[in-house]
Amino acid sequence: MNKYWENPEVLSIGRLPSRSSFATSGKKIDLNGKWKFKWTNNPEKADNWLKRGTKGWLEVDVPSLWTMDDRISEDNPIYTNVLLPFQGEPPSVPKNPTGLYKKKFTIRQKYVDKRWVIFLGGIENCFFLYCNNQEVGFSKDSRLPAEFDLTPFLKAGENELAIKVFRYSDTSYIENQDHWSHAGIHRGVFLYQTEKVYLKDIYIKPSYAAKDSVGNLNVSVKVGGQNRASIGHSINICILNQNGDAISQGEVEGIIEKSAFYPIIGKGAKLSLNWPAIPVAPWSAETPNLYTAVVKLISPHGDVIERAELKFGFRDIQVKDKELLINDKPVLIKGVNRHDHCDITGRVLTKESIRAELFLMKQHNINAIRTSHYPNQEEFYDLCDELGFYVIDEANLEAHQHYAQLGEDSHWAPQFLSRASRMVERDKNHPCVIIWSVGNETGFGPNQMSMIAWIREFDPSRPIHNENAICEQRIKNKWEENRHGSDIICPMYPSISELERHAKTSNDSRPLIICEYAHAMGNSCGNLKEYWDTIERWHGLQGGFVWEWKDHGLRKKNQPQGQWSYGGDFNESNHDFNFVCDGLCWPDGKPHNALIELKKIIQPVKIKRIRNKFLIQNDHYFKGLEDYEVSWQFFEDGRPKGGKEIRIFSTPPQHYEEFEIKNTYCPDRKELSIIFECRLNQNTKWARKGHLVAWDQITLQKKRGNTVPHKIEKTVKKINASLIKLSSEENEISFNEKGLFSWRQKDKELLEGPLMLNFWRAPTDNDGFKFFPNQEGKALSNWKKMGLDNICWVHEYKQTKDQSNIVKQTSIGECKAGRLKVTSEYALTGQGLYISHQFRVGKNFKNLPRVGVRWKFLKQYKNLTWFGKGPQETYEDRKESGVKKEHRSTVACQYVPYIMPQEHGNLTEISWLQISSDTKTIKFSGTSDMQASVSNYLDQDLTDAFRTSELKPTEYCWVYLDAAQRGLGGASCGPDTLNQYQVSPGTYKLEYQVKSNTKT
Ligand code: GAL
Ligand code: MG
Repeated sequence: MNKYWENPEVLSIGRLPSRSSFATSGKKIDLNGKWKFKWTNNPEKADNWLKRGTKGWLEVDVPSLWTMDDRISEDNPIYTNVLLPFQGEPPSVPKNPTGLYKKKFTIRQKYVDKRWVIFLGGIENCFFLYCNNQEVGFSKDSRLPAEFDLTPFLKAGENELAIKVFRYSDTSYIENQDHWSHAGIHRGVFLYQTEKVYLKDIYIKPSYAAKDSVGNLNVSVKVGGQNRASIGHSINICILNQNGDAISQGEVEGIIEKSAFYPIIGKGAKLSLNWPAIPVAPWSAETPNLYTAVVKLISPHGDVIERAELKFGFRDIQVKDKELLINDKPVLIKGVNRHDHCDITGRVLTKESIRAELFLMKQHNINAIRTSHYPNQEEFYDLCDELGFYVIDEANLEAHQHYAQLGEDSHWAPQFLSRASRMVERDKNHPCVIIWSVGNETGFGPNQMSMIAWIREFDPSRPIHNENAICEQRIKNKWEENRHGSDIICPMYPSISELERHAKTSNDSRPLIICEYAHAMGNSCGNLKEYWDTIERWHGLQGGFVWEWKDHGLRKKNQPQGQWSYGGDFNESNHDFNFVCDGLCWPDGKPHNALIELKKIIQPVKIKRIRNKFLIQNDHYFKGLEDYEVSWQFFEDGRPKGGKEIRIFSTPPQHYEEFEIKNTYCPDRKELSIIFECRLNQNTKWARKGHLVAWDQITLQKKRGNTVPHKIEKTVKKINASLIKLSSEENEISFNEKGLFSWRQKDKELLEGPLMLNFWRAPTDNDGFKFFPNQEGKALSNWKKMGLDNICWVHEYKQTKDQSNIVKQTSIGECKAGRLKVTSEYALTGQGLYISHQFRVGKNFKNLPRVGVRWKFLKQYKNLTWFGKGPQETYEDRKESGVKKEHRSTVACQYVPYIMPQEHGNLTEISWLQISSDTKTIKFSGTSDMQASVSNYLDQDLTDAFRTSELKPTEYCWVYLDAAQRGLGGASCGPDTLNQYQVSPGTYKLEYQVKSNTKT
């Protein structure tokens, strides 16, 4: 047996050349659906399988992955990031799991003489194809289609196809992306028929001159056929506009002359047709105007023998003076990295599921996608053309474990080149593709340069993205080196200060577009605001792509709703745990709170206040504001005041407009804000009329000092050696060595346990990976070193005569890092308590999780109301998406089931917060804004759990009040929480009242 799968020089045997994806008018036979399937752990065991029947074989769906099939329990998904899913050195592969597929289909007698081609959209990892027991060919590259001419193998009546798929090959070394390793036929399969002379390829080259809105068009068509069979055939192309009408001078024709085959000067069966300057509506992600080319192949007798329709768009891309210009505009790239992922199928996607993802992106103001790290299926690009996305199309090339080794090795050069050229050939006609990427994390060498050189010559209209050229992983950044190797400076996970430094000091003329930033793992994506403030401020910084769109959790059969598996859950011996869950969406595609924040940060319309006026700013590049309805409403102390007013603006793109609103009266002691909402005023392809695109809240009047008036009641204080009591008519609070442990109101106890001082939070993925306890430098490992998870508190009380109504408490917390000191004062007021804590965090305590307290009540307190940011959780560095008003929710709803249990549910800018049971309410009001969260979960339980299934809510309602809490940052892969959002040594104050009422 020739081991093609361990030979990098073998790319394919018998495969047809890559061509642009277009459907032709011939018959089509869909081969998706049920196939016979047999799995074996070794290709050698598959001898003679072709001739044998399929008795005892399984029935599987095509497309599907056998690694996701429970019946094949020996061969499962494997999740590794940098490392390969197996141990080996290129090009060898270990024992190779093998899938055998068979399917019967029928060709009617009258079509058997035609030309039949099989299209196989994507097979992981490589395969042999057979038809009627004969070998047709072999193919590698699991993310691009393979086509084979089946004509010589077919017969009239029943035919049988057979495919032998290997899980691994030498290309596993260059398809080593950070996601699940799977195997199977993961994209669709069909047959199509043409005449013996046929449309071989169509290359549409539109250009656009923005200054006079004129387009130019060249289309080149390759005609296929044995030898010179195409002579005398002609091509007719008609161009239709968006309404389906032919544009003037729309039809152009050409004929394949004999001269096409003359020695030396002959260009082969290829026609190049041109249109004169046409006035056109250009394509952009904001205005995805598409035209249609109707291409006809006409026989020498004048019969139309084949017809194809292709959509395309007129647009222009230039790189100039540190900017990427689309139709002359330096459009900001508000992008995400997207993998093919589905929690149920692994990565088998339908056009409908992709459409749903793209709708969600549009609804969240995302305008760009990097197809990390391989070309997607054809429908993806059709949808991006239609809905409007700027796409970086990335070649299927990542050799992360062996990084730069293979790019320098000429033995691998053909593999590298074919991954670029075949992608470009397929996707060249899509207006959405604005940049070609030659792959990810593979180092920079001559093999990449061969890809780049080929692309530049073949398609000079699009720039090249190549992160490999500007970075040498683990060694250093090379942002300004290897300029010939990338047209864009496209770093990964840069810090804000690095971006700023570059923008201020670099004279490199390339734009900087971040290829990955804001690693969205768990409760994350802190400081998106600061990234975007920086991007908007500096010339040459042009946006970037969040890593990444979706968590890649997988659902196993019978797994309870809301639970997903990650690395290690399929008994992989080598794996990277939950690092595969790092998206803006949950694995089932629902938005995480980080996506809500991103939507706000990148919204295309902004409303600001300047002096007594307001200003509306249109950040679109190609669209006025006419498509939106802008409404506003006043809020007094978080509650709506008066009705909504509505206006439509026609502010042109990249302009702002000032406007006035009559202010409303508001008493001094109250807070007044105005909320503007900008909604679609008509249905679009991706959202309905009324969809919220942008909003802003502007505080017009702050509450003076936010003070809570409190009157300390005359109380009776009783003291003995171990107990202090403060009592008034209704309330009584008691302290012992555990601190405040009892609050009785009308003789009923309210507390379920003592009030705790709290310096811990369940670590987020950004704080540190629980799986790897000794990660030097990570916040979590420092917290453990400091002993914050085990502080031993001693409380002391001072007896003072003059303030006998107040209990003064000094608490000393001992832990490995030293002593923490908290001084507190307690008094009784009308319906409850007045409390103040002063936390002193000494120099030994750096970068703490939080500084606050924790209250323990009965679980009966189920409901929650607050005046502060919401409705979703917010953190000091991720709170732009929070609206400050009165919110209502339940305690249970505060739980966010992050796949790795961790800190969640925080609320910021809290003026007050109230929990209530059926009979009672307890309200916490801060003297100044607090942070708070309410939960049935205990932070220690969240800390200890590795899966949501290990977590049980407690029987209590815990109220966490914080003077400070660490922001979220992005340290799971990228910079830590910014300094200003860290909890550093210093003095922190938390002052509030707690009132309890019986509901009437
Ligand atoms: C990048 C890489 C991605 C992913 C990410 C971390 O280095 O390009 O594929 O691994 O880090 O989630
Ligand atoms: Mg990688």
